[in-house]
Amino acid sequence: MGFLRIDRNICKRDGFCVRECPGTIIRMSADGIPEVTPGREAGCFDCGHCVAVCPYGALEHERIPSGNSPAIREELRISEEQALQFLRSRRSIRHFLNKPVEKERILKLIHGARYAPTAGNGQLVEWLVVSDRTRLKEISGLTVDWLRELVKDPQVLATSPYLPAAVAAWDAGYDSVLRDAPVLVIATAPKEAINGMVDLTLALSYFDLLAPAMGLGTCWAGLLQGALLHLPSLKRFAGIPERNPHHYPIMLGYPDAKYYRVPERKEPKVRFV
Ligand SMILES: Cc1cc2nc3c(=O)[nH]c(=O)nc-3n(C[C@H](O)[C@H](O)[C@H](O)COP(=O)(O)O)c2cc1C
Repeated sequence: MGFLRIDRNICKRDGFCVRECPGTIIRMSADGIPEVTPGREAGCFDCGHCVAVCPYGALEHERIPSGNSPAIREELRISEEQALQFLRSRRSIRHFLNKPVEKERILKLIHGARYAPTAGNGQLVEWLVVSDRTRLKEISGLTVDWLRELVKDPQVLATSPYLPAAVAAWDAGYDSVLRDAPVLVIATAPKEAINGMVDLTLALSYFDLLAPAMGLGTCWAGLLQGALLHLPSLKRFAGIPERNPHHYPIMLGYPDAKYYRVPERKEPKVRFV
């Protein structure tokens, strides 16, 4: 049986778990009960499809216990219209209340972000949370120092004409890098994550989407990411582990803004082939 336990009294022998296993490692045994094909155990990457697809809870996976796999509550499903408004009304927040974000709420967001897909179900995304105000200010300042040099290059100015304004704003006393956000969250991934950048970007998108539902707001910190990619010393100062080459920072806090409309996006360029 391997790591699967099937309750023979509950199993309807419908073969859903056999069909759904992405590693095709489950087969029907001679007596019509699913089992792991002998010798194929290593092909399981713990995605949980077999547990998720059984309507009767007949299947126990040693590493994915059903007690840890809550049922999907039909009454919580959202409509297409709700989902569209939810996606369309998310906005980048650039003014935050001067209020710390509770550790439990940050953890709730990170826990939610774990449900983003990861290549090969690797789940290798790691999280760094910086909320020390002095350190945040220093991270912004070091990024501005880097920008100050960068804007001397006419080629950079041609592609990023908004950069001098970010430096000028900092000089005028406004944190144009981290927007005075009370929290900076950096998702990172080690080199073993072959699609590390994709994995962590997806995780951050889940984080980004869940935040407004919790009364919080985010903004991707692209200026800081540029500096992190060019300054190993800043990467160390921010606390990104040496072994994690993939990273992206996002600001987090309680928004000091409310939005009432959904500005239209560009028409997508789509080709059906
Ligand atoms: C990868 C990435 C980097 C970004 N970097 C910054 C940034 O450094 N500062 C900032 O104010 N906004 C940043 N943004 C926010 C974009 O400007 C914003 O997503 C875009 O204007 C669309 O607005 P919306 O997010 O409110 O819909 C970034 C967004 C992304 C996806």
